[in-house]
Amino acid sequence: MRLSYAFLFALLAHSEVHAARPAKRQYDTHNYYVIEYVPRAGASLDEVARSLDVELVERAGELQNHWLVRADKPPSQHLTARGESEDRVVRAFEDLQARASSSLYSRSEEVQHSRRVVDSVRYLARQELRQREKRAPPPIPGPGANGLETAEAVAQRMQIADPEFTHQWHLVNNDYPQHMMNITGVWDMGITGHGVISAMVDDGLDYNSDDLAANFWAEGSHDYNDHTELPTPKLFDDHHGTRCAGQIAAVRNDVCGVGIAYDSKVAGIRILSGPISDIDEAAALNFGYQNSSIYSCSWGPPDNGRAMEGPGYLIKKAILNGIQNGRSGKGSVFVFASGNGGRNGDQCNFDGYTNSIFSVTVAALDYRGLHPDYSEACAANMVVAYSSGSGNHIVTTDIGKNKCATTHGGTSAAAPNAAGVIALGLSARPDLSWRDIQHLCVRSAVQINPDDPDWENTATGRPFSYKYGYGAINGYQFVKAAQEWQLVKPQIWLDLPVIQVNGGTMDLFRVTKGGSPIVAGGVTSDLIVNRQMLTDRNFDKLEHITIKVWITHTRRGDVEVELVSPNGVKSILAGKRYQDADGSGFPGWVFMTVKHWDENPIGTWTLRVSDQNKQAEKGTFLGWTMTFWGSVIDASKDIPVFDVPLLDQTLPPLLPPSNKPSQTIDLPIATTKQHPKPTEHLGDPGAAQGDADKPAFPGSGDIASPSPSASSTPTPDEGWFADLSNLMTTQLWFFIAVGAVVIFGVGAAIFFWRRRAARKNYSSLPTDSHPMSTVGGRPRTRELYDAFGEVSDDDDADEQTTLRSAMQQSEGLTYHPGFLDDDPSTAGGITPAAQRYKDVPDSASASAENVSRPAAPERPHSPAEGSNNSGDGSWDHASDVPR
Ligand SMILES: *[C@@H]1O[C@H](CO)[C@@H](O)[C@H](O)[C@H]1NC(C)=O
Ligand SMILES: *[C@@H]1O[C@H](CO)[C@@H](O)[C@H](O)[C@H]1NC(C)=O
Repeated sequence: MRLSYAFLFALLAHSEVHAARPAKRQYDTHNYYVIEYVPRAGASLDEVARSLDVELVERAGELQNHWLVRADKPPSQHLTARGESEDRVVRAFEDLQARASSSLYSRSEEVQHSRRVVDSVRYLARQELRQREKRAPPPIPGPGANGLETAEAVAQRMQIADPEFTHQWHLVNNDYPQHMMNITGVWDMGITGHGVISAMVDDGLDYNSDDLAANFWAEGSHDYNDHTELPTPKLFDDHHGTRCAGQIAAVRNDVCGVGIAYDSKVAGIRILSGPISDIDEAAALNFGYQNSSIYSCSWGPPDNGRAMEGPGYLIKKAILNGIQNGRSGKGSVFVFASGNGGRNGDQCNFDGYTNSIFSVTVAALDYRGLHPDYSEACAANMVVAYSSGSGNHIVTTDIGKNKCATTHGGTSAAAPNAAGVIALGLSARPDLSWRDIQHLCVRSAVQINPDDPDWENTATGRPFSYKYGYGAINGYQFVKAAQEWQLVKPQIWLDLPVIQVNGGTMDLFRVTKGGSPIVAGGVTSDLIVNRQMLTDRNFDKLEHITIKVWITHTRRGDVEVELVSPNGVKSILAGKRYQDADGSGFPGWVFMTVKHWDENPIGTWTLRVSDQNKQAEKGTFLGWTMTFWGSVIDASKDIPVFDVPLLDQTLPPLLPPSNKPSQTIDLPIATTKQHPKPTEHLGDPGAAQGDADKPAFPGSGDIASPSPSASSTPTPDEGWFADLSNLMTTQLWFFIAVGAVVIFGVGAAIFFWRRRAARKNYSSLPTDSHPMSTVGGRPRTRELYDAFGEVSDDDDADEQTTLRSAMQQSEGLTYHPGFLDDDPSTAGGITPAAQRYKDVPDSASASAENVSRPAAPERPHSPAEGSNNSGDGSWDHASDVPR
């Protein structure tokens, strides 16, 4: 298990470490940590490991300079005076930091050594296990009735012997021929997926199935739950991955049906059948990434309409690594299911996986072409693909030698259908980059239900809908477009200035100052983009926009956020979520929209924040910033490489924007203003089975776009520069000067702050009585300090640092405490977490699901935990949930 350092370095030197299989983890007996090592900062990896008294395990997945290390678990966790368990490794690092910063004996060998080690560690985090879960299809009532003629004709003409082919309506739909993946024409061209590998990041994959065995790619497969090479389904409900795999790559033979790309290969990466650490999830998303092109992900945070969660730091890094280095630099194609929380008023912009610019987000459409009520809407939806609804499911391979599943569905099944089409496209054009794929999705998608009021024309004239994205991904249109496609120029991003509304700030503790109260009619803020900003940055054509907002609110679900472009195109970023009573607002949450794709971005952009104007609920709009993503003007210029920021949730940011304009440039003027009372917002979103006649965000459509010149009182807000000097003397110093940060989720380096700042700076921190510090139910200043058991304490306080707070207050970035006991279907605490999922429609649970329940009691420290205590467990889960 333990590799010698010399061996590891030899491997490193030959960059063959990634070829090794991940070592089996022993979480029972060991604590695991990830170290981001800074080469040439003074200490060897060996020295770092020895100083922390940890054992080097292996390189962490495919992440450069990240190493997995481990330490024996103490037989019984050492408890501090306050009964909190102490982490020996973090403690050791802390001690090194303390010594490194000692100026008294700065020349001593010990201090020098400590500095070397501290400088060589950029990041250190203990790995906690948590459960990622599958998303079961929402139950579909009603019978389905198919005529079989057309499908049979296709079967006969193409000599398809798969017995269930004629029931695979998503391939050939006899009843509604305009509603299907439309791939038979692609097969006719001889394009059947040859040469493409899709990795199913899911639960098990039954490679012994006669319908999959011939297309299974073992080398790209791994089991991160049981730490074995093959993703063997073991649990009774381990059939999700097999079913999704069958949709893409079921062999054309005499078993069940066929996959959309039936000559392509599939790998199985098992992560949903048990708890998994962030670093293993990160490694899973890069596993085999030189060979596997597509990572099909039918899971995500809970769909309960209350959770707001995204991937943690290491997972974000892995996704970016896949984008930048996967497939020899052409980029892994991440396909994510939009989520099944439609009936709960959930939206995919509250899910950091689906609203990532790096994923193709796929919502669902049913066999009559209607929008199934479970499928989530949002401005980040790119396309829809066919799945269950209006009485029909997706017919695909099941676990077993020769078995067929007839109850598969949800957005879980939409994503693999889109992935199958993308596999066909890549088979025809293996040179397409991840962004070419997204362009093709946007351009080739087919509009369905054109009379649906959710459609709006974008600035380019392309229709977009929150429910359907740019339309239904269509095999024939996609592959045709791919064949003629000219590759896009490299990607560039433009960070626009950070706007602090009315001097709004939010620090690492989420303590806030300033901002504008959200009044009736909402608060708006403008940002002007001029040509100079674009050309200075070598920025040509707009693709995605990400918008980061800092908003506090006593009831997050009441908040609506929308962005209006200079051309009057509006993106609703957050619609009302009737179930979301969370009090923590949006502390630097990032929304994404694809609705402005190809739009000319020059002019005034307006962000509007409003709420339901209820007496008892209130909030403050503190600030926002926006990043444009698109293609470069001149590909021969130096093109910067994007990196995932370590700490990016403070307002203003701790670090300058990556494309910091020169000091002399005029900062755009930010204005705040009030609008007339908004129209009444509709109540419950309703629970129709399938629809094509209502907007995703009712009530939001009739608010006039703010006119930038209207009665506003321009008040230049402080930009980043104005605050720089402040930062240098406070937060920035702590994080930059020392050059090393220890993070546990969002609790980022708090102990670090504590150690350095506790005595010196405590008096300058906002106190508990500061009104803003309590807004939103986030950890209050006092709670944070209490969690560390110090500050007000005596000198011993320093020695009592624990990890507790970091674990507690993280926003879905680390372990979700108690997730095992919190599932409704395991009320007795008996059923293992992994057995919660039911793939079988259950009308009883369906109706239960439609009843809105009283909001969960607030547990502000663990939103993810508090977010899954409703429902029956059929498709409403803790943590990441299969779709
Ligand atoms: C479906 O594919 C056929 C070719 O097989 C094509 O003629 C037709 O236009 C496609 N349908 C749509 C809606 O794009
Ligand atoms: C995987 O990629 C490597 C290097 O690009 C190549 O040599 C190998 O043949 C590939 N394997 C498969 C199954 O495509």
